[in-house]
Amino acid sequence: MIKASDFGKHFLWGVATAAAQIEGTSDYYGKGPSIWDAFSHKVGKIKKGHKPNVACDFYHRFREDIAMVKLLGFRIFRFSIAWSRILPFGEGTINPEGIRFYHNVIDECLEQGITPYVTLYHWDLPQQLEEKGGWTSFSINRAFNDFVHICAKAYGDKVKHWMVINEPFGFTSLGYMLGLHAPGKTGLGNFFSAAHHTALAQAEGGKILRAEISNPTIGTTFSCSEILPYTQSDNDILVSKRVDCLMNRLFIEPTLGLGFPSENWEVLEKFQIEYGTWRHTERYKFDFDFIGLQNYFPLTVKYNAFIPVIQAWEVKAKSRKKPHTAMGWEINADGFYNIIKQFSSYPNIKNIIITENGAAYPDKLIDGHVHDVDRIEYFKLYLAALLKAKNEGMPITGYMAWTLMDNFEWAEGFTARFGLVYNDFKTQERTIKDSGYWWQAFLKS
Ligand code: GAL
Repeated sequence: MIKASDFGKHFLWGVATAAAQIEGTSDYYGKGPSIWDAFSHKVGKIKKGHKPNVACDFYHRFREDIAMVKLLGFRIFRFSIAWSRILPFGEGTINPEGIRFYHNVIDECLEQGITPYVTLYHWDLPQQLEEKGGWTSFSINRAFNDFVHICAKAYGDKVKHWMVINEPFGFTSLGYMLGLHAPGKTGLGNFFSAAHHTALAQAEGGKILRAEISNPTIGTTFSCSEILPYTQSDNDILVSKRVDCLMNRLFIEPTLGLGFPSENWEVLEKFQIEYGTWRHTERYKFDFDFIGLQNYFPLTVKYNAFIPVIQAWEVKAKSRKKPHTAMGWEINADGFYNIIKQFSSYPNIKNIIITENGAAYPDKLIDGHVHDVDRIEYFKLYLAALLKAKNEGMPITGYMAWTLMDNFEWAEGFTARFGLVYNDFKTQERTIKDSGYWWQAFLKS
């Protein structure tokens, strides 16, 4: 049986969260609205019309929740700062109440012996900035840089571990190309311009943190999925490479100084002409102390001429009769191992931390217990793959489970439960699931 000690004494174990998914108090204590507050008011965008304005009420319950992190045995708590809590309009006036709140969260972590890992941007752009074009506008970079300066100055003495951006591909594709997430924009034009500004923000944010904080450890996080062609036909292989370009390579490569990938595909070539200049390539680059990888599932794709632009179609796990979670995501730890290997093979990646990994299941609270055996099995499988990768010399130094407690799962609202702790959203009562107890025992082992 796999043990935490197999990963070595210095391996970092943590649990991850994000502000918009847990905090609540969306429009209290001086906070301005974020794009998720606005998006959740549009009809039909979020399952069951759920809204993040109370979520897990972490704003009022953070002390108990951090105590739970400790009880489960994690030494790291990853959380994000809500930009519009610090700057209600995204820029200009600072909200002292917001500054104070994160001081309290950080102090609580430190008092309980938990190391805070802070994400600066986990998808909740201030709505006022979105009204000026959001990530598609060049003015976003100045606003983001100011926000990073403010956070570095306020918390840099206490917080030494930072992540600049959470999954740039995740929010630029879902929010600016497909319109499924906030702010609900669509089209390639919006996507590429958002991708360009995000890649800049990531590097510039890293530079600011390094200049302002003494001895920081600076990372950023990327979503990643192994991409498999459905058959070995030329067309399936061709589109699997395109999807790999978008989902896995688009943001890591500019960060490493390689510029945006161009994979013999006219769509990316157009993007290259606009943003692939030497000047941009230099500005996208930053030598992060660690790269955060976030993986949940591999993706199988098939050529389909009717799909615009990418001509790829996902062949779902269910239709291939493969095991999957409540999100329909394939459970496949080989995919986890393979994608870590793919990222490890870039020449200058010094240090990888898995900053998210986990699974949603339709948990039921019965007589005060949640017997989430499937989630325990998921973690066992993925951790075994991680250990294999580590033992083969891939530079993995930490792992963070997604997530502490059931929360506001973006467009899924409260219908998808990913937590190690069950949350009753009516009473805010927390119940540690069997998987939480499994982690507790595992981390002692
Ligand atoms: C990630 C995201 C998290 C969480 C998770 C599970 O892409 O960063 O906030 O929602 O997926 O869906």
